[in-house]
Amino acid sequence: MESKKEDVRRKHIRLHMEGALTARDKVGVQDFVLLDAYTSESAFVDNLRKRFNENLIYTYIGTLLVSVNPYQELGIYTVSQMELYQGVNFFELPPHVYAIADNAYRMMCSELNNHFILISGESGAGKTEASKKILQYFAVTCPMTQSLQIARDRLLLSNPVLEAFGNARTLRNDNSSRFGKYMDIQFDFQGIPVGGHIISYLIEKSRVVYQNQGERNFHIFYQLLAGGEEERLAFLGLERDPQLYKYLSQGHCAKESSINDKNDWKTVSNAFSVIDFTEADLENLFGIIASVLHLGNIGFEEDDQGCATIPDTHEIKWIAKLLGVHPADLLEALTHRKIEAKTEEVICPLTLELSVYARDAMAKAVYGRTFTWLVNKINSSLVNKDFTRKTVIGLLDIYGFEVFDKNGFEQFCINYCNEKLQQLLIERTLKAEQAEYEMEGIEWEPIKYFNNKIICDLVEERHKGIISILDEECIRPGPATDLSFLEKLEEKVGKHAHFETRKLAGPKGRKRIGWMEFRLLHYAGEVTYCTKGFLEKNNDLLYRHLKEVLCKSKNVILRECFLRAELENRRRPPTVGTQFKNSLSSLLEILISKEPSYIRCIKPNDRKEPSKFDDFLIRHQIKYLGLMEHLRVRRAGFAYRRKYEHFLQRYKSLCPDTWPHWHGPPAEGVERLINYMGYKPEEYKLGKTKIFIRFPRTLFATEDALEFCKHQLVARIQATYKSCLGRREYVKKRQAAIKLEAHWRGALARKAIQRRKWAVRIIRKFIKGFISRNKPLCPDNEEFIVFVRKNYILNLRYHLPKTVLDKSWLRPPGILENMQQKVVTSEIFRGRKDGYTESLNQPFANSRINEGDINPKVLQLISHEKIQYGVPVIKYDRKGFKARQRQLILTQKAAYVVELAKIKQKIEYSALKGVSTSNLRDGILVIHVSPEDKQKGDAVLQCGHMFEAVTKLVMLVKKENIVNVVQGSLQFFISPGKEGTIVFDTGPEEQIYKNKNGQLTVVSVRRKS
Ligand SMILES: Nc1ncnc2c1ncn2[C@@H]1O[C@H](COP(=O)(O)OP(=O)(O)OP(=O)(O)O)[C@@H](O)[C@H]1O
Ligand SMILES: [Mg+2]
Repeated sequence: MESKKEDVRRKHIRLHMEGALTARDKVGVQDFVLLDAYTSESAFVDNLRKRFNENLIYTYIGTLLVSVNPYQELGIYTVSQMELYQGVNFFELPPHVYAIADNAYRMMCSELNNHFILISGESGAGKTEASKKILQYFAVTCPMTQSLQIARDRLLLSNPVLEAFGNARTLRNDNSSRFGKYMDIQFDFQGIPVGGHIISYLIEKSRVVYQNQGERNFHIFYQLLAGGEEERLAFLGLERDPQLYKYLSQGHCAKESSINDKNDWKTVSNAFSVIDFTEADLENLFGIIASVLHLGNIGFEEDDQGCATIPDTHEIKWIAKLLGVHPADLLEALTHRKIEAKTEEVICPLTLELSVYARDAMAKAVYGRTFTWLVNKINSSLVNKDFTRKTVIGLLDIYGFEVFDKNGFEQFCINYCNEKLQQLLIERTLKAEQAEYEMEGIEWEPIKYFNNKIICDLVEERHKGIISILDEECIRPGPATDLSFLEKLEEKVGKHAHFETRKLAGPKGRKRIGWMEFRLLHYAGEVTYCTKGFLEKNNDLLYRHLKEVLCKSKNVILRECFLRAELENRRRPPTVGTQFKNSLSSLLEILISKEPSYIRCIKPNDRKEPSKFDDFLIRHQIKYLGLMEHLRVRRAGFAYRRKYEHFLQRYKSLCPDTWPHWHGPPAEGVERLINYMGYKPEEYKLGKTKIFIRFPRTLFATEDALEFCKHQLVARIQATYKSCLGRREYVKKRQAAIKLEAHWRGALARKAIQRRKWAVRIIRKFIKGFISRNKPLCPDNEEFIVFVRKNYILNLRYHLPKTVLDKSWLRPPGILENMQQKVVTSEIFRGRKDGYTESLNQPFANSRINEGDINPKVLQLISHEKIQYGVPVIKYDRKGFKARQRQLILTQKAAYVVELAKIKQKIEYSALKGVSTSNLRDGILVIHVSPEDKQKGDAVLQCGHMFEAVTKLVMLVKKENIVNVVQGSLQFFISPGKEGTIVFDTGPEEQIYKNKNGQLTVVSVRRKS
């Protein structure tokens, strides 16, 4: 099962390798590496021509792109083309600038490193176009968020603005870049373009004041005049016709059919609005542009002393208005010069020639610094304020190598710049590559190539190079001239193989070099430079007087460009040549730290014509661009190399032996890996520290396999991660459930405890109630009694007598027996005797005397009669009413008045005649005996439980109506013929006493009931 899976994997990998091989275009070869006669220049040109004739302008040399300018729209830059190239392996589709862009982008995304694309070629070869296509490709194909669209638009629209101000028509190119541009496109971790930064290099300022025949000034001047709104032009004091302006009409080609200034103006205006330019910015900016045009039209005249004057101050007034300076100051600064003597300043008039120089210097300085301001302004709108880590792709589009009939300081700088870039290319490709093979111990036959370092040194070497010599000449005291500079050159670098002057050249070459000229043998060919103007342009001198006027300008842009600090700084600023040299060296530092991609642009003919393939011109370019050497190195070399550690780190997941960890030496791990992948011996070589892969297709197949494998790994990682998440979630839930359970259990337990406590309380109450059931009603027994009552009544439901005649009621529980008794009490006393109502809630007891409290003798005497009730009483003697403590004991048959062991009186129920009580609250009861039983007489008793005792007695006697409730007094039988009286009365306190009449007076407290 496992081995079957492995087979499928291997097959998949091989399939991709084959696929990469077969996807080839039919015309010529798409990659010069596949050319059979790869050492033949003719074969190279043939292949290029064959493809050019079919409008196939792109061809590879390995990963380097050769592009031939078609000078026509080919329809190969559509969005669908962009989508076609997006995310596809480099060699799977026909060569295209998009493939280069996509490759750099994907490498950047996957390896998180910085890249640059170096576009080189001579003027008009298509560098700027290529860089624009790349930018458009990123804008269309990169992922994008709503919020970052503005950053993308600004990146795109920075181009037309910079081109308007920095490009111009030259004899070589209608849209020639007259400044160098390096643009960093910044990408965030998701590969979204989020910002950018532009560095500009040495703009050709001299063009502002002078253009060769057939050339134009910078586009913006013509665009403003052609497209600017009427009001704007009126505000700036400009007319539409460029011929009216000296600075625009020297080249005699202000109107050029291939250039539509009016349309371009619209594009630029729109771009300004996107790149955050305010109306005030634009007013200041165009104020400067217009004032340059006005400056050019200032006419000078010479007065009698040979001093310059400006007879017509019309232009001066416009400039003063637009730049916000004082007209008189400006006029003076243009025609005079301040000379600083030791302690004072002397103002001397300028000659006509010097005035013209001052005017042009001002125009150049104003334009040049405004251009720098513009770049800074664009940069501030491109800046990305989020400080997370970004990766960048740099686009270098710099002025191409150029040769004119007359070449000046500008061409010298431009060509020196191209020389440096060529040097970089050589260093990073031809030289570095060969050195690497040697170092890694890879078998290698060295390939000869021309290293142009010698020319770079000629120009830039400290103290010895042309720039140093020029600088020296500029600062040297004494009369230095362009000619003296030329002589110095002859003296110092005259012996250099790549340097020639008329004097140094042999008789043959002499004719072609003028007296004021020197010739450099550049890597790209010979260029003869005229030294005229070298000193002046290198010095780039702007009279202090003019600088002072500009520092005071009210135009905000100018104020930013001309700072007072500059006036105060007395040190000489570095010369233009040195500045340029330094900026180039920092550019190279920027480039060296990044991964390169190269586009080599070739110009097919000198006439800007489509479908014209000038063999000679192209051969020349192939030669100086070093394409043949590059091809040879590529052919013999390896497309890809990587340190073992890095290679293993990236691809280790492709082999079970190396995944997830390889613990042995990386080189062995890589070997194991490539064996497993089935690399063929000719496809790779193993160096000391690196693996070298010969064909890109091998690498692409490996990449594809990785992509395939990644999906599986991702699925596994996802699953592990998801299970981890799930588990975490589960543990969380479980803990929550446990907590919940614990709380719930706690709550339940608390509830149960409460219930138990409640139950205990109830039971305790019940028990207490039970214990005290026979006691008078008190908090301890009241609930119990209610309960027993309730229970009894509920029970009664099921035990009701069956018939009316059936008098057998369910016997109530002990404590409720007194209910029956209470009924009897009620019948006797209700409404008749005070204190009855209060007595109602006092339950009757079975007895108020325990049997133990009855003297045993008495007990012995009466127990056979069954004692029913006993209660302590006070007995009043019938005669003297003396009170004596007695017990009244009721049996089934008789009532006994007992004193300790003696039965004082026995009243048989049969002899009982009646019972009397008063209607008052007292506890007096008199038991009347029948006359037959007269030996003792009636018993006068006072009892604390009068109602209870009387009721019990009545119930035992079983006679009705024996109780007599009297009012006022009652008579009782003392002895035969003798009766006593008891008087009942009410008073403030209870009293019982014998009154004067020998009667017993019982005083009760009357209480409202
Ligand atoms: N890929 C292309 N498709 C169609 N036309 C092109 C292409 N590349 C260049 N051109 C044409 O060639 C002209 C010059 O190209 P471009 O401005 O890019 O040259 P350059 O190399 O930047 O020159 P310079 O060094 O002078 O700036 C363009 O204006 C355009 O008309
Ligand atoms: Mg260009």
